Amino acid sequence: MVCGGRPLIGEVEMPAAKNSILPILAAAMLAQGAVRIRRAPRLRDVETSMQLLAALGCPAVRIDGDLLLAPGGPVGDTVPRPLMAAMRSSIYYLAPMLARGKRAHITFPGGCRLGERPIDLHLKGLAVMGARIVADGDHLDCAAPDGLHGTEIHLRFPSVGATETLLIAAAAAAGQTRIFGAAREPEVGDLAHFLIACGARIEGVGTDRLQVWGGALHGCEYTPIPDRITAQTVLCAAAACGGQVLLRRAPLAPLQPMAEILTRAGCGIRQLGENDLVLESDGRLLGVGSLSTGVYPAFATDAGPLLAAAMLTARGDTALRETIFSNRFGCAAQFARMGAELDCDGRLLQIHGVPKLHGAALTAQDLRGGAALVIAALTAEGESRITGVDYIRRGYEDIARLFGQLGAKITEVCLPVHTAASAGVSV
Ligand code: UD1
Repeated sequence: MVCGGRPLIGEVEMPAAKNSILPILAAAMLAQGAVRIRRAPRLRDVETSMQLLAALGCPAVRIDGDLLLAPGGPVGDTVPRPLMAAMRSSIYYLAPMLARGKRAHITFPGGCRLGERPIDLHLKGLAVMGARIVADGDHLDCAAPDGLHGTEIHLRFPSVGATETLLIAAAAAAGQTRIFGAAREPEVGDLAHFLIACGARIEGVGTDRLQVWGGALHGCEYTPIPDRITAQTVLCAAAACGGQVLLRRAPLAPLQPMAEILTRAGCGIRQLGENDLVLESDGRLLGVGSLSTGVYPAFATDAGPLLAAAMLTARGDTALRETIFSNRFGCAAQFARMGAELDCDGRLLQIHGVPKLHGAALTAQDLRGGAALVIAALTAEGESRITGVDYIRRGYEDIARLFGQLGAKITEVCLPVHTAASAGVSV
């Protein structure tokens, strides 16, 4: 339940990046010694990862906000279908399973429905490293009887997930692997730094050419980078609601595209020290014209719906073109229920700002689209009820608390479950 129309004022600290910690937890299976991941957020996808690790014989336990793993024992060869279906990041476990146990029975990974999300780049890369992969319907039977070996891989697109799968595989493979056309997102760099902390030798971190020398890895303690998408969620909300927010653990560099856009929209943004950021806004934003998402360091696809939500009440027009996923703007129909004026034609979302939105009953259909509904509801007059919050929990530990700290009126409520039986309906 969100009661909108209030400025956001105060200070929040950014948690560890979801898109870092998920591949790092899978990569931790390669270590021969204890791994401690500091400040692990209680995200639904992290909980799913813990179930997945337990299913593979490498359980993780929570201690004082950290996650502790003791890899090194025998590794399971099957990921149960519901765990594969629960998130996209389940695919990160394929490489460690092959490297450690030489076999993997999995199904295709699930995740937010943002359009087609094939895993061909992951599979082809592993195949040239020595894996034999046989697809039978939804089931993948994978084996690497002679282990994985280093090689040269050219990615046709800088896929974040495929780069991470191949980085994990390369760290455990025999010999040297060179990945050309690698993704340069900061979370890819964070995974590389984790592997380096475990003893891997990797060169080219942060570039599109990664060179990895595989070998035995040891345990380590590691703190993942802060979540730049959570930071952009807060920036967009505060920009649209008005107010002044201080973001702790939010270095400017990876937020630069969003900071430039919000500055153009009329906000004041300044860096404080190395890691903190202040945003000031009077809540009267200007439309920012035409923009495209792109691979890093361009404006991030995950931030598209967040910015769209902020621009619904800006003076003037904004047109967002999505270049990565075919169905990123599933939230557009929900925005319209709040009185927004927009037109969504697949990858192009055109927004004509209106003076105000009104509260409405809304349904989250994916993680970032769901967070965008929260932003829109915070700017709207009156009360909004958002269902489908489980999607939001995949990437935000407690979004009500996050915005509550900034003075928002937002609470999570448990609604009574109306089953078909209790409603007296025959199905
Ligand atoms: C990751 C992020 C997600 C982010 C996205 C792009 C995680 C857990 N998720 O998702 O939040 O929005 O990067 O920054 O880190 N593709 C293929 N074949 C493949 C793999 C990808 O064609 O084997 C295509 C996809 O369909 C998509 C594009 O490449 O069109 C980008 O996907 P990718 O970069 O792999 O994103 P994810 O790793 O799924």
